[in-house]
Amino acid sequence: MVKTNYLVIGSGVAGLTFAVKMAEKHPERNIIIVTKGDEDESNTKYAQGGIAVVLDMEEDSFQKHIHDTLVAGDGLCDKDVVEMVVKEGPKRLKELIAWEANFDLNSEGDFDLGKEGGHSEYRVVHHKDVTGYEVERALLQRVHQLPNIELLAHHFAINLITDHQLERQSANGISCYGAYVLNQKNGEILTIKADHTLLASGGIGRVYGHTTNPIIATGDGIAMAYRAKALIKDMEFIQFHPTALYNPEGGSYFLISEAVRGFGAYLRNKAGYRFMPDYDDRAELASRDIVSQCIDNELKKSGDTHVFLDCTHLDMVAFKKHFPNIYDKCLEYHIDVEKDWIPVVPASHYLCGGIVVDKQGKTSIDNLFACGECSRTGLHGANRLASNSLLEALVYAHNIFKYLSVDTLDSRPLNIPDWNDEGTSIPKEHVLIQHNLKELQALMRNYVGIVRSNKRLHKAIARLDLIYREVEELYKESKITTTLCELRNMVNVAHVIISQSLEQKENRGGYFNKDYQKEGK
Ligand code: FAD
Ligand code: SIN
Repeated sequence: MVKTNYLVIGSGVAGLTFAVKMAEKHPERNIIIVTKGDEDESNTKYAQGGIAVVLDMEEDSFQKHIHDTLVAGDGLCDKDVVEMVVKEGPKRLKELIAWEANFDLNSEGDFDLGKEGGHSEYRVVHHKDVTGYEVERALLQRVHQLPNIELLAHHFAINLITDHQLERQSANGISCYGAYVLNQKNGEILTIKADHTLLASGGIGRVYGHTTNPIIATGDGIAMAYRAKALIKDMEFIQFHPTALYNPEGGSYFLISEAVRGFGAYLRNKAGYRFMPDYDDRAELASRDIVSQCIDNELKKSGDTHVFLDCTHLDMVAFKKHFPNIYDKCLEYHIDVEKDWIPVVPASHYLCGGIVVDKQGKTSIDNLFACGECSRTGLHGANRLASNSLLEALVYAHNIFKYLSVDTLDSRPLNIPDWNDEGTSIPKEHVLIQHNLKELQALMRNYVGIVRSNKRLHKAIARLDLIYREVEELYKESKITTTLCELRNMVNVAHVIISQSLEQKENRGGYFNKDYQKEGK
């Protein structure tokens, strides 16, 4: 058995920020970070637009950012949380800069602030159009300087260790004691006992197949917490980003940042008509849920596969300076942004709900914390305001650090059983995993997408049940593999998304059900 004070599951902005803060303040405490895949692979790495922070107190104010967040969240945000996160923003950004993350400056030497959908002011700090890459780089650099952090890449967390594994019942509810972790290189399963465990395992984009998320986004942390009986909420609020680069092959979609619309780009249908002003006074800069739903409507009317983002009227020198990555990526696809419209389509992008946490990041399970995209803090309500996610992760990583910093460690010896895989064998029909995955993704896309209906949701749950049974059978008889565990996790997550969708009885933010559509809308 491996023992540690803090087990952090995930090496995106949430996990790394917590680890750095704790390791800096408490050199006597040790932290293990486990992460599947390469150490930098995460949604964080692909973040483009930036971090929403109020810095320009002349034009902007905390009140305006709070207001924009509440409007985007369509009445379902927790106002106290919104206030707390927005007001903490500048301090957390300062720390990131102290860890040597670089953000673009304008000619006066101030931060070059971008604008995105739903924001009333320019307040998005960024590093060109590769902000997440820069944040991840800086945090990993700091992690490697701190001797009390051990970062185990290619280590996949399979399950949380709770009273269930210890075959006992706690008087005070369920507690978490660490996790079982698969070494993906040699197949060994480690029992990691931790005084405190932090789920920082990111989002669920891959459940939909067509997504802006990388392959790690399979909802593992949420599925583990769900199986351990933690409270999970708001899973029906899936955010579809309006402008992913159209990819006829499906799978991963490269993102065309919302900051491009903030820079002045127009959405046009195939006929060249700029349709957004017909739907919303804010036109292309309406919040993401609205723009995605409008595009979906346009596509349904026309039968087309995509719409277009027109940048041809923009200042191309400034465009290339701000968006070099997007410019180059488009060229790879033979799209010259200067002359050609970019074909775009909405794709699953972000999960607003997740594991319920309080302001200190505590879940409903003792000694288990959650941070970042896998958590549900109440900040986003029914729809996240652009560039509020990196901000949320930074603020909550700090809150959890602060809370645990004064907490005494609970290092009682415990008799945790090792992983038992008696009677299992290497899966012979690996192809079954791929078939089930494809079926699951098609089901989520077709029945649980931007526009839902009760009939479709009921169909989805019935079909999912078949996949669930097949996957559980496979899981029980097979030796653990990452792909099998990820599939099982995605099936769990899909189940929660569909069942919570069925419980949502009105249209809010990212949740749109035809059965609750009001006249004329
Ligand atoms: P992640 O960064 O996704 O990290 C999760 C980590 O957990 C990864 O290291 C992963 O490998 C690991 N992990 C998962 N499961 C396991 C397991 N079972 N065992 C071990 N490790 C595991 N937000 C903004 O605020 N501004 C933006 O500009 C922005 N742009 C975006 C652009 C794109 C293309 C995408 C996809 C997202 C964007 N977002 C943006 C959203 C934002 O990037 C994410 O919500 C945020 O980075 C999530 O951080 P995280 O630390 O919670 O999770
Ligand atoms: C983008 O750059 O459009 C993504 C911003 C976000 O998801 O917050």
